[in-house]
Amino acid sequence: MRYVTLREARPGMRLAYDLYDSFGRTLVGSSCELTAVYIEKLREYGVGGVYITDRLSEDIEVENIISPELRREGLACIRVCDIDRCHEIAKRMVSEILGKCVVSLDMADLRTYDDYTYAHSVNVAVICCVIGVGMDLAEEDLLGLVTAALLHDLGKLSIPPEILNKPGRLTPEEYQIMKSHATVSYELLKERWDVSAQVKTAVLFHHENVDGSGYPQGLEGHEQTLFTKILHVADVYDALVSKRPYKNPYSPYEASEYLMGGCGIMFDRKVVDILLRYVPLYPKGTAVILSDGRTGIIYENAGVHNLRPIVRLLDGTLLDMTEKQNLSLTLSTGGENEMIPTEDAEESRKEMIREWKRYRIMAVDDMKTNLQMIRGILDNLYDVTLIKSGSQALHYLEKNPYPDLILMDIDMPEMNGIETARRIQELTGHAVPILFVTALCDRETVMMCRSMDAAGYIVRPYKPTYIKSEIKRILTGRSDVE
Ligand SMILES: [Fe+2]
Repeated sequence: MRYVTLREARPGMRLAYDLYDSFGRTLVGSSCELTAVYIEKLREYGVGGVYITDRLSEDIEVENIISPELRREGLACIRVCDIDRCHEIAKRMVSEILGKCVVSLDMADLRTYDDYTYAHSVNVAVICCVIGVGMDLAEEDLLGLVTAALLHDLGKLSIPPEILNKPGRLTPEEYQIMKSHATVSYELLKERWDVSAQVKTAVLFHHENVDGSGYPQGLEGHEQTLFTKILHVADVYDALVSKRPYKNPYSPYEASEYLMGGCGIMFDRKVVDILLRYVPLYPKGTAVILSDGRTGIIYENAGVHNLRPIVRLLDGTLLDMTEKQNLSLTLSTGGENEMIPTEDAEESRKEMIREWKRYRIMAVDDMKTNLQMIRGILDNLYDVTLIKSGSQALHYLEKNPYPDLILMDIDMPEMNGIETARRIQELTGHAVPILFVTALCDRETVMMCRSMDAAGYIVRPYKPTYIKSEIKRILTGRSDVE
Protein backbone atom coordinates (compact mmCIF):
# COMPACT_ATOMS: atom_id res chain seq x y z
CA MET A 1 0.00 0.00 0.00
CA ARG A 2 1.06 3.58 -0.35
CA TYR A 3 -0.11 6.99 0.73
CA VAL A 4 -1.45 9.43 -1.84
CA THR A 5 -2.64 12.94 -1.12
CA LEU A 6 -6.14 13.68 -2.22
CA ARG A 7 -4.76 15.78 -5.03
CA GLU A 8 -2.98 12.72 -6.39
CA ALA A 9 -5.95 10.41 -5.84
CA ARG A 10 -7.57 9.27 -9.09
CA PRO A 11 -10.77 7.41 -9.94
CA GLY A 12 -10.00 3.70 -10.16
CA MET A 13 -7.46 3.66 -7.33
CA ARG A 14 -8.26 1.02 -4.73
CA LEU A 15 -8.39 1.95 -1.03
CA ALA A 16 -6.26 -0.05 1.41
CA TYR A 17 -8.13 1.07 4.54
CA ASP A 18 -11.67 1.93 5.58
CA LEU A 19 -12.34 5.61 5.98
CA TYR A 20 -14.89 6.54 8.60
CA ASP A 21 -16.32 9.66 10.18
CA SER A 22 -16.45 10.67 13.83
CA PHE A 23 -19.67 8.68 14.37
CA GLY A 24 -17.78 5.55 13.35
CA ARG A 25 -19.73 5.38 10.08
CA THR A 26 -17.80 4.10 7.12
CA LEU A 27 -17.32 6.77 4.47
CA VAL A 28 -15.57 4.49 1.98
CA GLY A 29 -14.70 0.86 2.63
CA SER A 30 -11.30 -0.74 2.06
CA SER A 31 -10.82 -2.38 -1.38
CA CYS A 32 -13.37 0.06 -2.66
CA GLU A 33 -12.51 1.75 -5.92
CA LEU A 34 -12.33 5.51 -5.73
CA THR A 35 -14.61 7.45 -8.03
CA ALA A 36 -14.61 11.15 -8.86
CA VAL A 37 -17.65 11.56 -6.60
CA TYR A 38 -15.93 9.83 -3.66
CA ILE A 39 -12.82 11.95 -4.13
CA GLU A 40 -14.88 15.12 -4.14
CA LYS A 41 -16.74 14.00 -1.00
CA LEU A 42 -13.46 13.21 0.77
CA ARG A 43 -12.19 16.63 -0.17
CA GLU A 44 -15.30 18.19 1.39
CA TYR A 45 -14.73 16.15 4.55
CA GLY A 46 -11.20 17.57 4.73
CA VAL A 47 -9.39 14.25 4.30
CA GLY A 48 -5.79 15.05 3.39
CA GLY A 49 -4.91 11.73 1.78
CA VAL A 50 -5.62 8.02 1.65
CA TYR A 51 -3.74 4.74 1.57
CA ILE A 52 -4.25 2.89 -1.66
CA THR A 53 -3.06 -0.43 -2.89
CA ASP A 54 -1.77 -1.05 -6.41
CA ARG A 55 0.71 -3.30 -8.19
CA LEU A 56 3.56 -0.94 -7.44
CA SER A 57 2.93 -1.04 -3.71
CA GLU A 58 1.15 -4.34 -3.09
CA ASP A 59 4.09 -5.77 -1.15
CA ILE A 60 4.55 -2.68 1.03
CA GLU A 61 2.85 -3.16 4.40
CA VAL A 62 2.33 -0.08 6.54
CA GLU A 63 1.39 -1.16 10.00
CA ASN A 64 -1.23 0.69 11.98
CA ILE A 65 0.01 1.03 15.53
CA ILE A 66 -3.47 0.36 16.93
CA SER A 67 -6.31 -1.54 15.29
CA PRO A 68 -8.76 0.50 13.22
CA GLU A 69 -11.60 -0.83 15.44
CA LEU A 70 -9.97 0.55 18.57
CA ARG A 71 -9.28 3.87 16.87
CA ARG A 72 -12.90 4.10 15.76
CA GLU A 73 -14.24 3.17 19.22
CA GLY A 74 -11.91 5.69 20.88
CA LEU A 75 -13.13 8.39 18.54
CA ALA A 76 -16.80 7.61 19.24
CA CYS A 77 -16.17 7.48 22.98
CA ILE A 78 -14.61 10.95 23.03
CA ARG A 79 -17.36 12.33 20.81
CA VAL A 80 -19.97 11.50 23.47
CA CYS A 81 -17.66 12.43 26.33
CA ASP A 82 -17.87 8.92 27.80
CA ILE A 83 -15.25 9.22 30.51
CA ASP A 84 -15.97 5.76 31.96
CA ARG A 85 -15.31 4.09 28.67
CA CYS A 86 -12.08 6.02 28.11
CA HIS A 87 -10.50 3.87 30.85
CA GLU A 88 -11.35 0.74 28.90
CA ILE A 89 -10.13 2.22 25.62
CA ALA A 90 -6.88 3.28 27.33
CA LYS A 91 -6.38 -0.25 28.66
CA ARG A 92 -6.83 -1.81 25.23
CA MET A 93 -4.57 0.77 23.63
CA VAL A 94 -1.74 0.13 26.09
CA SER A 95 -2.13 -3.60 25.64
CA GLU A 96 -2.08 -3.36 21.79
CA ILE A 97 0.99 -1.11 21.76
CA LEU A 98 2.88 -3.18 24.34
CA GLY A 99 2.14 -6.21 22.16
CA LYS A 100 4.00 -4.75 19.17
CA CYS A 101 7.45 -6.09 18.37
CA VAL A 102 8.48 -2.89 16.60
CA VAL A 103 6.92 0.45 17.48
CA SER A 104 7.01 3.15 14.82
CA LEU A 105 4.66 5.99 14.02
CA ASP A 106 4.70 5.12 10.33
CA MET A 107 1.08 5.41 9.38
CA ALA A 108 -0.48 8.78 8.71
CA ASP A 109 -3.80 9.20 10.47
CA LEU A 110 -6.68 9.58 8.04
CA ARG A 111 -8.94 12.12 9.61
CA THR A 112 -11.59 14.52 8.55
CA TYR A 113 -12.11 18.12 9.60
CA ASP A 114 -15.26 17.31 11.51
CA ASP A 115 -13.61 14.67 13.67
CA TYR A 116 -10.40 16.57 14.29
CA THR A 117 -10.74 16.92 18.06
CA TYR A 118 -11.70 13.28 18.54
CA ALA A 119 -9.12 11.88 16.13
CA HIS A 120 -6.52 14.19 17.62
CA SER A 121 -7.26 12.92 21.14
CA VAL A 122 -6.91 9.29 20.05
CA ASN A 123 -3.70 10.06 18.21
CA VAL A 124 -2.23 12.00 21.11
CA ALA A 125 -3.06 9.00 23.32
CA VAL A 126 -1.15 6.72 20.93
CA ILE A 127 1.84 9.08 20.85
CA CYS A 128 1.83 9.44 24.65
CA CYS A 129 1.78 5.67 25.01
CA VAL A 130 4.71 5.34 22.61
CA ILE A 131 6.72 7.92 24.58
CA GLY A 132 5.76 6.22 27.84
CA VAL A 133 6.90 2.84 26.51
CA GLY A 134 10.16 4.48 25.40
CA MET A 135 10.60 5.80 28.94
CA ASP A 136 9.95 2.36 30.43
CA LEU A 137 6.94 3.56 32.41
CA ALA A 138 5.09 0.92 34.39
CA GLU A 139 1.88 -0.37 32.79
CA GLU A 140 -0.22 1.37 35.42
CA ASP A 141 1.43 4.71 34.60
CA LEU A 142 0.93 4.12 30.89
CA LEU A 143 -2.73 3.62 31.60
CA GLY A 144 -2.98 6.94 33.44
CA LEU A 145 -1.02 8.77 30.76
CA VAL A 146 -3.15 7.41 27.93
CA THR A 147 -6.34 8.20 29.84
CA ALA A 148 -5.16 11.80 30.33
CA ALA A 149 -4.42 12.06 26.62
CA LEU A 150 -7.85 10.76 25.62
CA LEU A 151 -9.50 13.31 27.92
CA HIS A 152 -7.18 16.29 27.48
CA ASP A 153 -9.24 18.23 24.95
CA LEU A 154 -12.76 17.40 26.15
CA GLY A 155 -13.17 21.10 26.85
CA LYS A 156 -12.91 21.79 23.12
CA LEU A 157 -16.24 20.04 22.58
CA SER A 158 -17.93 23.12 24.03
CA ILE A 159 -16.05 25.60 21.85
CA PRO A 160 -18.12 26.77 18.88
CA PRO A 161 -16.88 25.10 15.67
CA GLU A 162 -16.63 28.50 13.97
CA ILE A 163 -13.87 29.38 16.44
CA LEU A 164 -12.30 25.92 16.54
CA ASN A 165 -11.98 25.68 12.76
CA LYS A 166 -11.73 29.35 11.88
CA PRO A 167 -9.44 29.65 8.88
CA GLY A 168 -8.29 33.17 9.65
CA ARG A 169 -7.26 35.34 12.53
CA LEU A 170 -8.90 34.71 15.90
CA THR A 171 -9.97 37.83 17.74
CA PRO A 172 -8.43 38.28 21.21
CA GLU A 173 -11.80 37.24 22.69
CA GLU A 174 -11.93 34.13 20.51
CA TYR A 175 -8.40 33.27 21.49
CA GLN A 176 -9.32 33.54 25.17
CA ILE A 177 -12.22 31.16 24.57
CA MET A 178 -9.88 28.78 22.76
CA LYS A 179 -7.42 28.86 25.63
CA SER A 180 -10.14 28.12 28.17
CA HIS A 181 -10.48 24.55 26.92
CA ALA A 182 -7.72 23.18 29.17
CA THR A 183 -9.50 24.48 32.28
CA VAL A 184 -12.89 23.33 30.98
CA SER A 185 -11.49 19.83 30.39
CA TYR A 186 -10.24 19.83 33.96
CA GLU A 187 -13.59 21.06 35.31
CA LEU A 188 -15.31 18.11 33.64
CA LEU A 189 -13.02 15.73 35.52
CA LYS A 190 -12.28 17.36 38.84
CA GLU A 191 -15.19 15.88 40.83
CA ARG A 192 -14.63 12.36 39.58
CA TRP A 193 -13.16 10.05 42.20
CA ASP A 194 -12.22 7.46 39.58
CA VAL A 195 -9.88 9.82 37.71
CA SER A 196 -6.51 10.19 39.41
CA ALA A 197 -5.02 13.52 40.47
CA GLN A 198 -2.12 12.81 38.11
CA VAL A 199 -4.50 12.57 35.15
CA LYS A 200 -6.40 15.71 36.16
CA THR A 201 -3.16 17.70 36.52
CA ALA A 202 -1.88 16.58 33.12
CA VAL A 203 -5.16 17.61 31.49
CA LEU A 204 -5.18 21.03 33.15
CA PHE A 205 -1.58 21.84 32.28
CA HIS A 206 -1.17 20.30 28.83
CA HIS A 207 -0.49 23.73 27.25
CA GLU A 208 2.25 24.77 29.67
CA ASN A 209 5.69 25.43 28.18
CA VAL A 210 8.86 24.57 30.07
CA ASP A 211 10.00 28.21 30.01
CA GLY A 212 6.79 29.32 31.72
CA SER A 213 5.22 30.97 28.66
CA GLY A 214 2.29 28.57 28.36
CA TYR A 215 -1.18 28.56 29.90
CA PRO A 216 -3.29 28.46 32.07
CA GLN A 217 -0.78 29.16 34.85
CA GLY A 218 2.59 29.75 33.17
CA LEU A 219 4.23 26.86 35.03
CA GLU A 220 7.90 26.26 34.38
CA GLY A 221 9.38 22.86 33.61
CA HIS A 222 10.40 22.06 37.19
CA GLU A 223 6.82 22.71 38.32
CA GLN A 224 5.34 20.33 35.77
CA THR A 225 4.74 16.62 36.12
CA LEU A 226 6.16 14.09 33.68
CA PHE A 227 2.64 13.36 32.39
CA THR A 228 2.15 17.07 31.66
CA LYS A 229 5.40 17.30 29.71
CA ILE A 230 4.70 14.16 27.70
CA LEU A 231 1.15 15.22 26.91
CA HIS A 232 2.32 18.66 25.75
CA VAL A 233 4.90 17.22 23.33
CA ALA A 234 2.48 14.62 21.95
CA ASP A 235 -0.27 17.23 21.58
CA VAL A 236 1.91 19.62 19.59
CA TYR A 237 3.46 16.90 17.43
CA ASP A 238 0.05 15.63 16.37
CA ALA A 239 -1.26 19.14 15.75
CA LEU A 240 1.74 19.86 13.52
CA VAL A 241 1.33 16.79 11.31
CA SER A 242 -2.42 17.38 10.91
CA LYS A 243 -4.09 19.25 8.14
CA ARG A 244 -6.35 21.98 9.49
CA PRO A 245 -8.56 24.49 7.75
CA TYR A 246 -5.95 27.17 8.55
CA LYS A 247 -2.75 25.23 7.94
CA ASN A 248 -1.05 22.54 5.89
CA PRO A 249 0.35 19.49 7.63
CA TYR A 250 4.03 19.41 8.53
CA SER A 251 5.92 16.33 7.37
CA PRO A 252 7.24 14.11 10.20
CA TYR A 253 10.67 15.50 9.37
CA GLU A 254 9.51 19.11 9.70
CA ALA A 255 7.56 18.36 12.87
CA SER A 256 10.68 16.71 14.33
CA GLU A 257 12.67 19.84 13.55
CA TYR A 258 10.02 21.96 15.20
CA LEU A 259 10.14 19.85 18.36
CA MET A 260 13.93 19.82 18.41
CA GLY A 261 14.01 23.57 18.08
CA GLY A 262 11.48 23.96 20.88
CA CYS A 263 13.49 21.98 23.44
CA GLY A 264 14.09 23.99 26.59
CA ILE A 265 11.61 26.63 25.44
CA MET A 266 8.36 24.82 24.98
CA PHE A 267 9.30 21.21 25.43
CA ASP A 268 11.20 18.96 27.78
CA ARG A 269 14.26 17.75 25.90
CA LYS A 270 14.19 14.22 27.22
CA VAL A 271 10.58 13.74 26.18
CA VAL A 272 11.30 15.07 22.69
CA ASP A 273 14.36 12.82 22.32
CA ILE A 274 12.29 9.77 23.21
CA LEU A 275 9.47 10.66 20.80
CA LEU A 276 11.87 11.29 17.94
CA ARG A 277 13.16 7.72 18.27
CA TYR A 278 9.77 6.60 16.96
CA VAL A 279 9.10 9.22 14.31
CA PRO A 280 10.16 7.91 10.92
CA LEU A 281 11.87 10.54 8.81
CA TYR A 282 10.69 8.71 5.70
CA PRO A 283 7.53 6.80 6.61
CA LYS A 284 6.91 3.59 4.68
CA GLY A 285 4.57 3.97 1.75
CA THR A 286 5.10 7.71 1.31
CA ALA A 287 6.06 9.28 -1.99
CA VAL A 288 9.50 10.83 -2.32
CA ILE A 289 11.36 12.83 -4.93
CA LEU A 290 15.00 12.01 -5.59
CA SER A 291 17.47 14.80 -6.13
CA ASP A 292 17.84 13.66 -9.76
CA GLY A 293 14.13 14.29 -10.33
CA ARG A 294 12.90 10.69 -10.24
CA THR A 295 10.03 9.81 -7.93
CA GLY A 296 9.31 6.73 -5.88
CA ILE A 297 7.77 5.26 -2.74
CA ILE A 298 9.53 4.35 0.51
CA TYR A 299 9.69 0.57 0.37
CA GLU A 300 11.69 -0.27 3.46
CA ASN A 301 13.48 1.46 6.31
CA ALA A 302 16.33 -0.22 8.15
CA GLY A 303 15.42 1.91 11.17
CA VAL A 304 13.10 4.71 12.09
CA HIS A 305 15.77 7.37 11.60
CA ASN A 306 17.28 5.90 8.51
CA LEU A 307 18.15 8.60 6.00
CA ARG A 308 19.00 5.98 3.37
CA PRO A 309 15.88 3.84 2.91
CA ILE A 310 15.06 1.52 0.02
CA VAL A 311 12.94 3.29 -2.55
CA ARG A 312 10.68 1.71 -5.15
CA LEU A 313 10.82 3.77 -8.30
CA LEU A 314 7.73 4.21 -10.42
CA ASP A 315 9.03 1.68 -12.98
CA GLY A 316 9.07 -0.93 -10.19
CA THR A 317 12.84 -1.13 -9.61
CA LEU A 318 14.17 -0.96 -6.07
CA LEU A 319 16.84 1.56 -5.28
CA ASP A 320 18.91 1.07 -2.14
CA MET A 321 19.84 4.60 -1.11
CA THR A 322 22.82 3.33 0.89
CA GLU A 323 24.42 2.60 -2.48
CA LYS A 324 23.47 6.00 -3.93
CA GLN A 325 25.24 8.44 -1.66
CA ASN A 326 25.20 11.12 -4.33
CA LEU A 327 21.37 11.23 -4.25
CA SER A 328 19.16 12.79 -1.61
CA LEU A 329 15.44 12.46 -0.89
CA THR A 330 12.61 14.88 -0.30
CA LEU A 331 9.15 13.85 0.83
CA SER A 332 6.64 14.66 -1.87
CA THR A 333 3.60 16.66 -0.87
CA GLY A 334 1.87 15.81 -4.13
CA GLY A 335 1.24 19.47 -4.70
CA GLU A 336 -1.02 19.44 -1.66
CA ASN A 337 0.29 22.76 -0.46
CA GLU A 338 -0.94 24.48 -3.57
CA MET A 339 -4.45 23.46 -2.63
CA ILE A 340 -4.73 25.59 0.42
CA PRO A 341 -4.81 29.31 -0.19
CA THR A 342 -4.72 30.03 3.53
CA GLU A 343 -1.04 30.62 4.07
CA ASP A 344 -1.76 34.26 4.79
CA ALA A 345 -4.54 33.27 7.13
CA GLU A 346 -2.11 31.09 9.02
CA GLU A 347 0.40 33.90 9.19
CA SER A 348 -2.10 36.39 10.48
CA ARG A 349 -3.30 33.88 13.03
CA LYS A 350 0.22 33.60 14.33
CA GLU A 351 0.69 37.36 14.39
CA MET A 352 -2.41 37.77 16.47
CA ILE A 353 -1.03 36.09 19.55
CA ARG A 354 2.35 37.75 19.59
CA GLU A 355 3.41 41.17 20.57
CA TRP A 356 5.10 42.77 17.66
CA LYS A 357 8.74 43.62 17.99
CA ARG A 358 11.21 44.38 15.22
CA TYR A 359 13.73 41.60 15.75
CA ARG A 360 17.20 41.61 14.25
CA ILE A 361 18.43 38.56 12.39
CA MET A 362 21.92 37.77 11.13
CA ALA A 363 22.27 35.32 8.25
CA VAL A 364 25.67 33.72 7.61
CA ASP A 365 26.20 31.94 4.30
CA ASP A 366 28.99 31.89 1.72
CA MET A 367 26.48 31.67 -1.15
CA LYS A 368 25.16 35.00 -2.31
CA THR A 369 21.99 33.43 -3.76
CA ASN A 370 21.12 31.83 -0.42
CA LEU A 371 21.56 35.14 1.38
CA GLN A 372 19.41 36.91 -1.16
CA MET A 373 16.70 34.32 -0.77
CA ILE A 374 16.72 34.74 3.02
CA ARG A 375 16.52 38.50 2.62
CA GLY A 376 13.62 38.12 0.18
CA ILE A 377 11.66 35.99 2.64
CA LEU A 378 12.38 37.91 5.84
CA ASP A 379 13.02 41.50 4.88
CA ASN A 380 9.50 42.77 5.47
CA LEU A 381 9.33 41.11 8.88
CA TYR A 382 12.77 41.63 10.41
CA ASP A 383 15.94 43.69 10.22
CA VAL A 384 18.22 41.31 8.35
CA THR A 385 22.04 41.52 8.26
CA LEU A 386 23.79 39.37 5.66
CA ILE A 387 27.29 38.03 6.37
CA LYS A 388 29.41 36.03 3.93
CA SER A 389 31.74 34.02 6.19
CA GLY A 390 32.29 32.72 9.70
CA SER A 391 35.19 35.05 10.43
CA GLN A 392 33.20 38.08 9.26
CA ALA A 393 30.34 37.01 11.54
CA LEU A 394 32.64 36.87 14.57
CA HIS A 395 34.15 40.21 13.64
CA TYR A 396 30.69 41.77 13.30
CA LEU A 397 29.58 40.45 16.69
CA GLU A 398 32.68 41.86 18.39
CA LYS A 399 31.82 45.36 17.13
CA ASN A 400 28.02 45.45 17.13
CA PRO A 401 25.06 44.68 19.41
CA TYR A 402 24.09 41.01 19.26
CA PRO A 403 21.18 40.13 16.96
CA ASP A 404 18.14 38.24 18.28
CA LEU A 405 18.81 35.21 16.09
CA ILE A 406 21.52 33.87 13.79
CA LEU A 407 20.80 31.76 10.72
CA MET A 408 23.89 29.70 10.03
CA ASP A 409 24.92 27.78 6.94
CA ILE A 410 27.18 24.79 7.67
CA ASP A 411 29.11 24.06 4.52
CA MET A 412 31.36 27.12 4.21
CA PRO A 413 35.03 27.35 3.21
CA GLU A 414 37.66 28.41 5.77
CA MET A 415 35.50 28.16 8.89
CA ASN A 416 32.47 25.90 8.67
CA GLY A 417 29.14 26.80 10.29
CA ILE A 418 29.51 24.43 13.21
CA GLU A 419 32.87 25.83 14.21
CA THR A 420 31.56 29.38 13.69
CA ALA A 421 28.51 28.63 15.83
CA ARG A 422 30.72 27.19 18.56
CA ARG A 423 32.85 30.33 18.63
CA ILE A 424 29.77 32.56 18.59
CA GLN A 425 28.35 30.65 21.55
CA GLU A 426 31.65 31.21 23.38
CA LEU A 427 31.73 34.89 22.49
CA THR A 428 28.12 35.60 23.37
CA GLY A 429 27.81 33.20 26.29
CA HIS A 430 25.06 31.30 24.40
CA ALA A 431 22.97 34.47 24.44
CA VAL A 432 21.96 34.32 20.78
CA PRO A 433 19.94 31.37 19.46
CA ILE A 434 21.45 29.79 16.35
CA LEU A 435 19.29 28.21 13.69
CA PHE A 436 21.17 26.10 11.18
CA VAL A 437 19.89 26.48 7.63
CA THR A 438 21.75 24.09 5.42
CA ALA A 439 21.64 21.54 2.63
CA LEU A 440 23.56 19.08 4.80
CA CYS A 441 21.26 16.60 6.46
CA ASP A 442 23.43 13.57 7.12
CA ARG A 443 22.89 12.02 10.50
CA GLU A 444 26.33 12.92 11.82
CA THR A 445 25.92 16.63 11.07
CA VAL A 446 22.38 16.73 12.46
CA MET A 447 23.48 14.98 15.65
CA MET A 448 26.45 17.32 16.01
CA CYS A 449 24.18 20.36 15.71
CA ARG A 450 21.71 18.90 18.16
CA SER A 451 24.47 18.30 20.69
CA MET A 452 25.44 21.97 20.41
CA ASP A 453 22.13 23.12 21.78
CA ALA A 454 21.17 24.82 18.53
CA ALA A 455 17.76 26.46 18.41
CA GLY A 456 16.85 24.49 15.30
CA TYR A 457 17.92 22.90 12.07
CA ILE A 458 16.34 23.60 8.71
CA VAL A 459 17.26 21.63 5.63
CA ARG A 460 17.38 23.36 2.28
CA PRO A 461 15.26 23.57 0.18
CA TYR A 462 12.74 24.82 2.72
CA LYS A 463 9.30 26.31 2.48
CA PRO A 464 9.24 30.07 3.18
CA THR A 465 6.28 29.51 5.50
CA TYR A 466 8.25 26.98 7.44
CA ILE A 467 11.35 29.06 8.00
CA LYS A 468 9.18 32.03 8.94
CA SER A 469 7.19 30.01 11.44
CA GLU A 470 10.34 28.45 12.87
CA ILE A 471 12.00 31.84 13.31
CA LYS A 472 8.92 33.21 15.02
CA ARG A 473 8.75 30.25 17.31
CA ILE A 474 12.37 30.72 18.36
CA LEU A 475 12.00 34.45 18.84
CA THR A 476 8.76 34.41 20.76
CA GLY A 477 8.99 30.98 22.39
CA ARG A 478 5.29 30.48 21.93
CA SER A 479 3.23 27.82 20.30
CA ASP A 480 0.16 28.65 18.31
CA VAL A 481 -0.48 25.01 17.69
CA GLU A 482 -4.00 24.25 18.82
FE1 LIG B 1 -5.38 21.42 24.02
